[in-house]
Amino acid sequence: MLSILAIAALGVNPCYAATLKLHYAGANFTNAFTFRTAADYPGSGDPTNGFVNYVSSSVATSKGYAKVINGQVYLGVDNTSTVSTSSQGRNSIRLESKESFTNGILIADIAHMPGNACGIWPAFWTYNFDEDPYGEIDIIEGTMHQSNNIVSLHTCGTCSFDFSSSSGTDPRSDCNLGGVSDGCSDDVATNYDGCGNTGPSGSYGDKFNNNGGGVYVTQVQTTSLKIWFFPRSAIPADITAGNPNPANWPAPFLDASKGCNPGKYFKKQSIIINTDFCGANIDQDAWNSDSACKSKASSCKAYVAANPSAFSQAYWLFNSIKLYQ
Ligand SMILES: *[C@@H]1O[C@H](CO)[C@@H](O)[C@H](O)[C@H]1NC(C)=O
Ligand SMILES: *[C@@H]1O[C@H](CO)[C@@H](O)[C@H](O)[C@H]1NC(C)=O
Repeated sequence: MLSILAIAALGVNPCYAATLKLHYAGANFTNAFTFRTAADYPGSGDPTNGFVNYVSSSVATSKGYAKVINGQVYLGVDNTSTVSTSSQGRNSIRLESKESFTNGILIADIAHMPGNACGIWPAFWTYNFDEDPYGEIDIIEGTMHQSNNIVSLHTCGTCSFDFSSSSGTDPRSDCNLGGVSDGCSDDVATNYDGCGNTGPSGSYGDKFNNNGGGVYVTQVQTTSLKIWFFPRSAIPADITAGNPNPANWPAPFLDASKGCNPGKYFKKQSIIINTDFCGANIDQDAWNSDSACKSKASSCKAYVAANPSAFSQAYWLFNSIKLYQ
């Protein structure tokens, strides 16, 4: 169901402590990112064709879409304006980190993510902009009324994982987007779903928010890629203490370590945070198949244009993003 978002490790040895390499929080958080705008994407204004108008850092700041509240980083959307269906779309944010990583433990402490709403498609993900090779890790992604988070990995080239030791509920093994003999090209790709898994209850949207959010951990090593979700009430003490040790944790819901070598594909990952509307993942068929949303408007675009207050919960609230190596 979910398409790729980009169209265009630590070896834990108990003898060694993890070193904090990146720490984005509070006032320095948004400085670590570039705000991409619609003008960066000639043609559609969005690489995934959404009904969205990504705004600059200065607009986001002046309109209050990006701000720090009590030490937490708020990243929201326009929740007050009605917009024209022939416009670029609803104002929103798309942040891309200036720094990237090839291995390590990425820990995102998130107090709130965009809540469930008709037409919404938020994501927290990483991607190699150089596509040398193509490698994308969709850590948090969902649409509309989805209840559990869907994690996806995308490669260009054969990469199929055996997820039998993952705790997630809906494993999908084939990561290869496919096309042009797997050098891939977005308009010929055949496997937009990618490989991945579905997270536990409370890992996405309103349920995530009702529990005070939680922590997503993504560990990238040459031989494995693992993703854990910890609800706020169950964050391991070593994470809180700043010395994360995966050996102490329960099984990840995504354990990509058998069948494909992650080190071959997942390199130079930049961190991306965005809130999209409609677009590639909510086409007319998806809209029509959600009876609750379909009853509100004839199309995703019509709904998103006319209902600003539906997006009052369409904001991220980050406590921090940290990378340990
Ligand atoms: C960002 O701010 C946090 C919280 O004040 C601080 O702990 C961290 O070291 C800062 N990071 C950088 C890169 O300045
Ligand atoms: C609506 O968005 C503004 C920023 O533009 C934000 O300050 C406000 O908290 C949002 N409303 C709600 C109910 O979250």
